[in-house]
Amino acid sequence: MSEGRFAGSVAIVTGAGSGIGRATAIGLAEGGGRIIVGDVNRARADETVALLPPGAGVAVVGDLTESVVADALVAAAEALGPPDILVNCAGYGGGRAAFGSFEPMLWNRIQEVNLGGPFHLIGRVIEGMAQRGRGAIVNVASVAGIVGEPGIFGYSAAKAGMVNLTRALALHYAARGVRVNCVCPGVTDTNFLVNVRAAPDAEEIFARYARLMPIGRIARAEEIAEAILFLASDAASFCVGVVLPVDGGWTAG
Ligand SMILES: NC(=O)c1ccc[n+]([C@@H]2O[C@H](COP(=O)([O-])OP(=O)(O)OC[C@H]3O[C@@H](n4cnc5c(N)ncnc54)[C@H](O)[C@@H]3O)[C@@H](O)[C@H]2O)c1
Repeated sequence: MSEGRFAGSVAIVTGAGSGIGRATAIGLAEGGGRIIVGDVNRARADETVALLPPGAGVAVVGDLTESVVADALVAAAEALGPPDILVNCAGYGGGRAAFGSFEPMLWNRIQEVNLGGPFHLIGRVIEGMAQRGRGAIVNVASVAGIVGEPGIFGYSAAKAGMVNLTRALALHYAARGVRVNCVCPGVTDTNFLVNVRAAPDAEEIFARYARLMPIGRIARAEEIAEAILFLASDAASFCVGVVLPVDGGWTAG
């Protein structure tokens, strides 16, 4: 049996094909865990599995807003053993728009990916965790779920929903051994920023981000993953319903 802080653990990580989810999967595997690498993008999911030690990762490809995909993620985990870690990392920003021109379909899609996906997955694993008296769920929200971010309305609403879903679940399940916590990243250098980088005023936007974060730069995915790994690990055994900004100081002001 491998040694490490996640030895013997089976983890499901959504959005593990890229960025923060990938860095989290790598950290879990380094700690001896086995990971279900969930992502809608097959090439990226396979790439993540290839970065893990042989046998440590299994890719499950599909859109996590579909309940059959949640079924497949959980079934793949259970084939390895009961899942004791769930990291809800996949997210969708939906871009900026004036509120009056926000398309209802886009609004719904943002809520579906950021809240509906976690709803399906949490619902499938949390009772089992509680019955076994052991489980850690880490939701990846955003600074935009704590403070208002002008222009990204659907995403801000969804991430704030995730923050308070974390708290409600944490209170309900704490006494049964399931810890539910949440990480709120500041701006992080991942594929998530692809549209921002392509924008004509990208330089201005990044300068604003740097100003918002007193540390003066955006984060690396690994810096966010470290916080997720901590909350997923037994080192965080007394952390329940924590909403942890990992934001270079953005929300300290
Ligand atoms: N990068 C940032 O600046 C930032 C800031 C705050 C919060 N976040 C949050 O961090 C999380 C991870 O983002 P990231 O920066 O690593 O982005 P990323 O784009 O690098 O990775 C997200 C991954 O999720 C997958 N995904 C998206 N929708 C999916 C779906 N419906 N089903 C399955 N997989 C899906 C994508 O294919 C992608 O591989 C997201 O929840 C995001 O909202 C990111």
